[in-house]
Amino acid sequence: EELTIIRKFEHIEHCLRRNVQAHVSNGFEDVHFVHMSLPEIDKDEVDLSVEFLGRKFDYPIFIAGMTGGTRGSQLAGKINKTLAQAAQELNIPMGVGSQRAMIRKPETWESYYVRDVAPDVFLVGNLGAPQFAETMPGRYGVEEALKAVETIQADALAIHLNPLQESVQPEGDTQYRGVLKALAELKAEFPYPIIAKETGAGVSMEVAIRLESIGIDAIDVGGLGGTSWSAVEYYRAKDEMGRNLALRFWDWGIKTAISVAEVRYSTDLPIIATGGMRDGIMMAKALAMGATFAGVALPLLRPAVKGDVEGVIKVLQRYIEEIRNAMFLVGAKNVEELRKVPLVVTGFTREWLEQRIELASYLRGR
Ligand code: FNR
Repeated sequence: EELTIIRKFEHIEHCLRRNVQAHVSNGFEDVHFVHMSLPEIDKDEVDLSVEFLGRKFDYPIFIAGMTGGTRGSQLAGKINKTLAQAAQELNIPMGVGSQRAMIRKPETWESYYVRDVAPDVFLVGNLGAPQFAETMPGRYGVEEALKAVETIQADALAIHLNPLQESVQPEGDTQYRGVLKALAELKAEFPYPIIAKETGAGVSMEVAIRLESIGIDAIDVGGLGGTSWSAVEYYRAKDEMGRNLALRFWDWGIKTAISVAEVRYSTDLPIIATGGMRDGIMMAKALAMGATFAGVALPLLRPAVKGDVEGVIKVLQRYIEEIRNAMFLVGAKNVEELRKVPLVVTGFTREWLEQRIELASYLRGR
């Protein structure tokens, strides 16, 4: 487990020092608003609040889980507490990173704990799907899931689905057999909401339908076009073969915009649109396409490692102002109205979606 902890630390280092983003976009450049010259609303009446899992949030932005339990866990603790203070101040939800290290090394719990600085924040714990696989020695069940949530007084649990990342790292957990059944059993007993989250390769409609059928409460599509875990593993690779594999799969996956459309079209689950969300216009597009939140990880890491709460808030405020402006310019007073404004889909995203869903019917019924 010492290895897990060192690995998490390396991930943060690479994310700060190297280009770890996909070489391809997340698809939102193919989604267009139609400018409205008569918005018939005042910009300052635009309401950005959203509801999610029974709670009300002031803004439609989710701080995606990144860390916890890293070496000398002060760094992870600082990152999580900094993000949590920003989330508390803005009344937006946040996740912590994988709590696998905490399950094995309970003494690292403090690096995930933020309740002292963020008593009211909607906090999401995090465990990995492979840990629930039937072929995983010492597989997790409801006991570990409860420990993850209750030790840090979280409100929900995210289960990350990351077969891409696991498959391109030498020490990866590539066991995925029986995960869906295990999650169904967990869901049947577990008293907290469960969010299934990808980590950069997107969720297809086939997967979304299965997740909905076992009672999963929400999906974070974690799509292609932002942080690429193959990229991170490329920098960590120890040999030629490993570097080649990670490089080959650098841009593997379903783009975020496409994944949002597939999941919205095929299920009624609340959606978090994460993966390369870097400005408020694309965030507004994601909301218009049916997401409840835009999720952000990488852009917040740099201010967070410095403990710069104001820096994190500044990045988020920029997004918020851009979302508000876009909503004004399409005449949407709130996120519900935003879902009804016309959208035009072009290019690669259109070609993909035309083969996968009834695009026109999806666009009518977001
Ligand atoms: C992550 N992400 C992540 N996800 C998860 O479920 N468990 C984890 O432990 C981590 N760890 C992690 C560390 C770092 C440094 C980053 C940048 C990201 C994935 C994250 O939640 C998100 O899905 C992706 O990063 C895509 O969003 P961005 O980075 O493109 O905004």
